[in-house]
Order: sequence, then C-alpha cells, then structure tokens
Amino acid sequence: MPNTLTQFVAPALDQVRILVVGDVMLDRYWFGEVARISPEAPVPIVRIEKREARLGGAANVARNAAALGAHAGLLGVVGNDEAGSEVEQLLAAGGIHSYLKRDEAISTIIKLRVIGRQQQMLRIDFEEAPTDTVLRDKLMQFKALLPDYDVIVLSDYAKGSLVNVADMIASARAAGKVVMVDPKGDDFGRYAGATVLTPNKSEMRRIVGHWNSEEQLTAKAQQMRRELRLDALLLTRSEEGMTLYTENENINMPAAAREVFDVSGAGDTVIATMAAMLGAGRSWNEAVKTANRAGGIVVGKLGTATVTREELFGQ
Ligand SMILES: Nc1ncnc2c1ncn2[C@@H]1O[C@H](COP(=O)(O)OP(=O)(O)OP(=O)(O)O)[C@@H](O)[C@H]1O
Ligand SMILES: [Mg+2]
Repeated sequence: MPNTLTQFVAPALDQVRILVVGDVMLDRYWFGEVARISPEAPVPIVRIEKREARLGGAANVARNAAALGAHAGLLGVVGNDEAGSEVEQLLAAGGIHSYLKRDEAISTIIKLRVIGRQQQMLRIDFEEAPTDTVLRDKLMQFKALLPDYDVIVLSDYAKGSLVNVADMIASARAAGKVVMVDPKGDDFGRYAGATVLTPNKSEMRRIVGHWNSEEQLTAKAQQMRRELRLDALLLTRSEEGMTLYTENENINMPAAAREVFDVSGAGDTVIATMAAMLGAGRSWNEAVKTANRAGGIVVGKLGTATVTREELFGQ
C-alpha cells in the first residue's frame, strides 16, 4: 500500500543523540519500622529494612532520554565516594553513557529520605558545589563532546555545576546544536541564546512576577522569549498542562493525566521527550504534544519515573 499522509510513522528516536549536562544527584529512600522513641532524644527510631536508590536531577533527565530509546550521555560532577560509584552503576544499568567527573573535594549530592509508617520522617541533603578545577575540566570536555551530539540539555538545579552555562550555550549554538535548558534561580539572563527554556510555573513567576490572566501571561512569556533570544519558551503548568510560546504561535496543551500518583520528576520526562522529538526532526507542535503525553503518563506511575517509546507510540 502506498504511504498516505494519514499514516503515522513513529519518530526514529534511536537515532537521536542527547547530551545532558547539569547537577547530578542520587535519590535515596530508606524504609523502616518505627517501634520506639529514642532514649537519647525525644525522636522516633526507624529501624531500616529496605533501601532504594534512583538517579536524580540531570541524571534523571538522561535516564528518561535513554528510556525513550535515544542515545543519552551525561556530563556532570560527583564526589569520589560510594554514592558517586552508585550513580555510575545506575547509569550503566540504564544504558547511559557516563562522562562524570569525580571531584575529590566534595561529596556526591544525595537526597536521603527516611520513611517509616508510610510517611517521610526526615530528609537529609548532602550538597556541595564542585570545585573550580573540575568545572574547568568539565567545560573543556563539553566542547570536545559537542560534535558527537544533536541535542544538548542543560539541567540546572542550582547546585553549582552549571556556572559556565552561558559559555556552554554559546559554543553549542555556534556548533549548530539544539540547546534546551531547564532553568532555576532568579537570573535567566545567563540562558540567553538557548533554543528553548522549560521553566515550571514557580520558576517563571520568580522572574516575571504574578499574572492575572492568560493574556497577561502570554505577554510576559513572549517578552521573555524575545529578550532572551529563544526560539521557544515552554511553560510547564502541572495540572494545567503546558504552553509553548514561539514567534508565530502559542500552543496550549491541557494536562493529559488520567490518574496522578507521583508528580516529582515530571519536568525531567517532559524535557527529555522534547529533546528526543526535536532531535528526530519533528515540529514544535508534535514535540510538545508528545511531551505532554509523556508528562501525563509519568505522573500516573509510582517509582519508575520514565516513559518508553512503546508507551508513547505503541511501536
Ligand atoms: N497534577 C498533575 N496533573 C496532570 N498532569 C501533570 C500534573 N503534574 C504534572 N503534570 C504533567 O507533567 C508536566 C510537568 O510538570 P510540572 O509543570 O509540575 O513540572 P516541574 O515542576 O518541573 O516538575 P518536577 O520539577 O517535579 O520534575 C506538566 O506540564 C503536565 O503535562
Ligand atoms: Mg522541574
């Protein structure tokens, strides 16, 4: 049968090469029984029975890209410690190519949750910014890796591994790459010249202030897009779905979720899906539609926060 216009061809995501750069984290979950109060201080004692670990931050974006079948590389910094080795193991298991730098002077970023009686009792964060020497190394490797990749995703969680983000954007754009940034903080000026920025509502509000109507939001979003010289701005809006602002149109996608179990990490799935679709040469419209579908699927899952190509396209 001849190929018709209506026939759907799934994008060749396995041909796409995505380099994720940013703050790499390890999410740890310790589950246990709470049976008594400590004799040392008025606090409960949790006797740990089960431990789990997952890739977090930029590493979760890479994991999502790999789950979609794309070639995913990860450039970032971890400590020269046991948690850093666990990150490396999880990357290998997820089929992600690791270019992680080991920084002797810091500990790996860890978010440790202690869970007893079905609820989080405590979260312990280990966070240290990478040192200058390692960051210089990383920037050099970034430039060396550029020719090997189609799409660059800069995943900023404001933990210090993207201090050179402006330099990275400029060199990646000069090399003709699609550059996507998941931004943080109160200075978006450093992301100027990227292809697309993907803030969520609170990240956006922090920069442009409150909006009282859709018209006002559109005006603020378009102004930001122009000022930062972006091709597009993708605002992810949790239960309101997402809106993509480009020079020619505003594409609004209502949330696609049927049931919501776990919203954390949905933004990582969205940017990874956009990267894979744009890398496969699909239009903004198709990319944002697919990313919204992926967001809707991932919030319906507990635990494994990724979406596969089969789930998205059924083939
Ligand atoms: N409560 C929800 N109901 C339906 N869809 C949701 C919900 N939360 C998130 N989504 C989907 O996931 C997308 C990304 O979510 P969100 O805007 O919360 O990003 P985010 O804050 O960056 O997430 P995170 O930082 O936790 O990864 C949304 O655009 C939407 O498609
Ligand atoms: Mg986010």
